[in-house]
Amino acid sequence: MERLVAPSMLSADFANLACNIEMVNKSQADWFHLDVMDGVFVPNISFGFPIVERIKSLAVKPLDVHLMIIDPDRYIERFSAVGADWLTVHYEACAHLNRTLSQIRKFGMKAGVAVNPHTPVENLIDILEYADMVLIMSVNPGFGGQGFIPNSIGRIERLSKIINSKGLQTLIEVDGGVGPNNAKQLYEAGAHVLVAGNAVFKADNPLAAIEAMKKA
Ligand code: DX5
Ligand code: ZN
Repeated sequence: MERLVAPSMLSADFANLACNIEMVNKSQADWFHLDVMDGVFVPNISFGFPIVERIKSLAVKPLDVHLMIIDPDRYIERFSAVGADWLTVHYEACAHLNRTLSQIRKFGMKAGVAVNPHTPVENLIDILEYADMVLIMSVNPGFGGQGFIPNSIGRIERLSKIINSKGLQTLIEVDGGVGPNNAKQLYEAGAHVLVAGNAVFKADNPLAAIEAMKKA
């Protein structure tokens, strides 16, 4: 089973972005997780195309772009152009999810669908074939540094069973309040990709925090 770690650049020091990118490049982390927020779908605004493009120019690992925006269809082509390798949209923000995920794949990216903490994972049963990854939000999206919502563990276990029963290879990613303290439990519940912002960038030793998650 894959055990991937994706540091969330939302918690990086934007005045020292190049150093923080270099740290992730040299670390045991697998992907860069980039949180794009529009101030409408979530009550916060983060960064957009110029930052994603600049990170792409320095990153030696795939970019995992998490869109917390309404009507993401408008921007699929542009995220492909600035270098997204994985593009995840929110279930709650898409009226035509099948079309959206198909478009993401058409532009050469891997397609992800994220679910907020209140959305039953069972709602994804008819869309899993069209998704390369499901992102389980383990906090209400919008901010780094929040506490992990405990029932997320059961949500991962339920989703994992559904994916296995369908014989699919869909990855499960978990985002929000994740770090070395709960990594083992999350992998054991069925998660494949762990996103960590504060647990990496606010740690005394970010490289060690990443390594601890990889080895959990
Ligand atoms: C929250 C974002 C997360 C965030 C995680 O809406 O999707 O990726 O950066 O931050 P931590 O790991 O600090 O909870
Ligand atoms: Zn995220």
